[in-house]
Amino acid sequence: MKVDHIGYLVKDMDSAAAAFAELGFVPVTGVIRDDVSDGAGACRNVLLRFMENGGTVVELVAPLGENSDVAGRLRSCGEGPYHICYAVEDLAASLEAMRAGKWRILRRPSPAVAFGGAPVAFLVKKGAGIVELVEKPAGGV
Ligand code: NI
Repeated sequence: MKVDHIGYLVKDMDSAAAAFAELGFVPVTGVIRDDVSDGAGACRNVLLRFMENGGTVVELVAPLGENSDVAGRLRSCGEGPYHICYAVEDLAASLEAMRAGKWRILRRPSPAVAFGGAPVAFLVKKGAGIVELVEKPAGGV
């Protein structure tokens, strides 16, 4: 699986983007608001912004209020990297293989605003922490 981006939890999007700019990162996107329900009553409630430096892409993630997916983690762990996202060609097949490998699903596949509605899922496993999978067909962007 190819690394797509590193998810980086921040408190404030603007100050984080400025700090990453000092580190040589340039914006790939503007600020993206992801507060769309996944259809099962859950929603991530985050602000996102992608920045890139020499092929390494970080996804800045800031909570939108206390019911955000990441509000609790930000309180307990503070700012910093917290997931690595991998691009896969077939999300359902990858999830099945990883479940067989004892990965636990944190968030079932749902369309991601940041990826034009492509499905993403989050999993966790001892020794690896949180992993995100995004479905990107071969030859896609
Ligand atoms: Ni991500």
